[in-house]
Amino acid sequence: NTYVVVMAGGIGSRFWPISRVSHPKQFHDVLGTGESMLQTTVKRFATVCPPENIYVVTNREYASLVREHLPELPESQLLQEPIGRNTAPCIAYACYKIAKKNPSANIVIAPADHVILREDAFISCVKEGLAATANQDILVTLGIKPTRPDTNYGYIQFIDEPNSTLKKVKTFTEKPSVEIAQMFLDSGEFVWNAGIFIWNAKAIIKAFQQYLNEMADTFEEGTPALDTDQEEQFINTAYSHCRNISIDYGVMEKANNVFVILGDFGWSDLGTWNSLYSLSEKNIDDNVVNGNVLLYDVHNSIIRAPENHLVVAQGLDGYIIAQHDNILMICRREDEHKIKDFVADAKAIK
Ligand code: GDD
Ligand code: MG
Repeated sequence: NTYVVVMAGGIGSRFWPISRVSHPKQFHDVLGTGESMLQTTVKRFATVCPPENIYVVTNREYASLVREHLPELPESQLLQEPIGRNTAPCIAYACYKIAKKNPSANIVIAPADHVILREDAFISCVKEGLAATANQDILVTLGIKPTRPDTNYGYIQFIDEPNSTLKKVKTFTEKPSVEIAQMFLDSGEFVWNAGIFIWNAKAIIKAFQQYLNEMADTFEEGTPALDTDQEEQFINTAYSHCRNISIDYGVMEKANNVFVILGDFGWSDLGTWNSLYSLSEKNIDDNVVNGNVLLYDVHNSIIRAPENHLVVAQGLDGYIIAQHDNILMICRREDEHKIKDFVADAKAIK
């Protein structure tokens, strides 16, 4: 009864210029492991469900990249979106489709761009979640102990029941301001939302009906078209009506049947250059280096040289130097939040 849905349609713009619209980070080997993040993600679930129950949702534009990275994925398990509408429509599409096949499906939703260092610990958390959602209509998410007031995450406050791994969620706050994030962190009562969700088909459909009613109506009306020749046409129309909203804002912040399982499995969203920095091995000068480089008096920096290039740098502290194709970016690590402006401006030049 277990299914896995891998969300692989984001554009990862905070990782520019390595991650870009034409080739987002889930299709990169960001950590240098020899596999793309998407390949690692799919492999990770090998013991959770059979391969015919793994679905990948992506933008139509990335379908050929997915086929290239996952040649064994059958076409019927590759769900293609005509436009990016964030994670709520992506989850609705996959869950309604799976529910049509198997109304008592138990579903794991996983982003394609996370690093998980301790796979065994991760899988045991997922299995605990699946055991809970097999017979309860609840929404389960995995929580991570926070280490900094990061505003890119959802923050979860829960009722601590020492004897239960499943903890009832009191509040869910998606991407708070830095002041509020700091308060959450100081209180010691909050964990980060890992963005990995577990629920049965019935529970998530009920949540859509309750909190994203129009979206639920659209997909309910279209259910007969799923798995037929009309699917693509239905999806095109459905997405043109769908709100652009994440599952976090759309459902998780509002629902009152959310539970969290605390996980400690070496998780990182790898959403930004600094998260790559904190996760990677550093050289003697505290630099994270990738490719051919010659460094003189360079410290605390990330330097990525593309194949067949040599990067030479001198006298820098705390910088990101990254080149990809025809774009070279040099940016102070502490200013990485400005990258989204660079992306917009670079687009305007092109
Ligand atoms: N198919 C599809 N379509 N996938 C999408 C789309 C879409 O329109 N938008 C995003 N995704 C994929 C991304 O590729 C990523 O794997 C995942 O969905 C989550 O989207 P992000 O855009 O990376 O979300 P986030 O990182 O800002 O926030 C989420 O993750 C955090 C943890 O990493 C939230 O769930 C936060 O609450 C959470 O803390
Ligand atoms: Mg993310």
